[in-house]
Amino acid sequence: MAILVTGGAGYIGSHTVAELLARGKEVVVVDNLQQGHREAVIGGTLEVGDLRDADFMAEVFRKHKVEAVIHFAASSLVGVSMKEPGEYYHNNVYGTLCLLEAMHKAGVNNIVFSSTAATYGEPEQVPIKETDRTQPTNTYGETKLAMERMMHWYDVAHGVKYVSLRYFNAAGAHASGRIGEDHSPETHLIPLVLQVALGQREQISIFGGDYATPDGTCVRDYIHVSDLADAHLRALGRLLDGGESAVYNLGNGRGFSVREVIEVAREVTGHPIPSVLLDRRGGDPAVLVASADRARTELGWIPQQPELRDIIASAWQWHSAHPHGYRG
Ligand code: UFG
Repeated sequence: MAILVTGGAGYIGSHTVAELLARGKEVVVVDNLQQGHREAVIGGTLEVGDLRDADFMAEVFRKHKVEAVIHFAASSLVGVSMKEPGEYYHNNVYGTLCLLEAMHKAGVNNIVFSSTAATYGEPEQVPIKETDRTQPTNTYGETKLAMERMMHWYDVAHGVKYVSLRYFNAAGAHASGRIGEDHSPETHLIPLVLQVALGQREQISIFGGDYATPDGTCVRDYIHVSDLADAHLRALGRLLDGGESAVYNLGNGRGFSVREVIEVAREVTGHPIPSVLLDRRGGDPAVLVASADRARTELGWIPQQPELRDIIASAWQWHSAHPHGYRG
């Protein structure tokens, strides 16, 4: 029996595929390669196609004996989602609807879902708990919340069990050096900071220095991508053991400011990494830090690489060996 990974050629998907393969699982990846990279799929079977293509998905479920699905495939740029909401509803919400329908027809009833802290919006309190209010401040977070709710109603009607994992800020790369982060365009803080250290950009822009945080810049909870991958396998185990549907935050429970990230990157790379202070970026909450107590208690999930320095060093290992990502 195989685990079907949608978006398995993407950043977090490919690390989860690597973890599944390392534990001897049979893996089928479905990816339209719009954002994903063929080279990031280091094993298993890659089926290139789109979730919204019903015939393609029916064929995938016919060809492979699928035990459960891990669902990453989605558009994930907050800024673009605010300009092109239709694209986000179509790819994320309609794509998930098509996937759930295909699963239902094939009799597959377990799904682990790649969700986001963006479902919370501006937090009521930090650290954020799963029971806190969800009020997204951008279309991206809204579509991920809609996808979670859709799974809930498929559970009620058809007994499809889901575990939704709300990630905070994923970073770092696989210890093997074979896979890492390669987005186009790149918008995330850590890879952009490392591009400065590589001489690919002159300076890093700091988006806002007047937030109500100790140094005025936004605080985020950075989590190693391999720790995220491990959480997916634990969530999968819960479902295959007959567990009920659930939602978990995944973070380290510690926040670092933009300035702190840049400072640690200077230490790791030995590069001065010049910075320039700009205006705030729209839609950025001041502080996002997870309470991951539920994942620890119920999944036994304990991050193995919680130190920011180790996370950045791991990202640096990948970026310095692959300055142009998978393009060589
Ligand atoms: N930032 C800068 N300069 C940059 C890039 C980012 O100052 O050049 C700042 C941002 O304003 C933010 C912080 O660095 O305060 C982190 O920004 P990222 O873009 O790396 O990450 P986000 O926190 O915006 O977003 C991440 C995921 C989203 C997810 C969100 C949920 O990328 O998909 O976490 O919390 F929705």
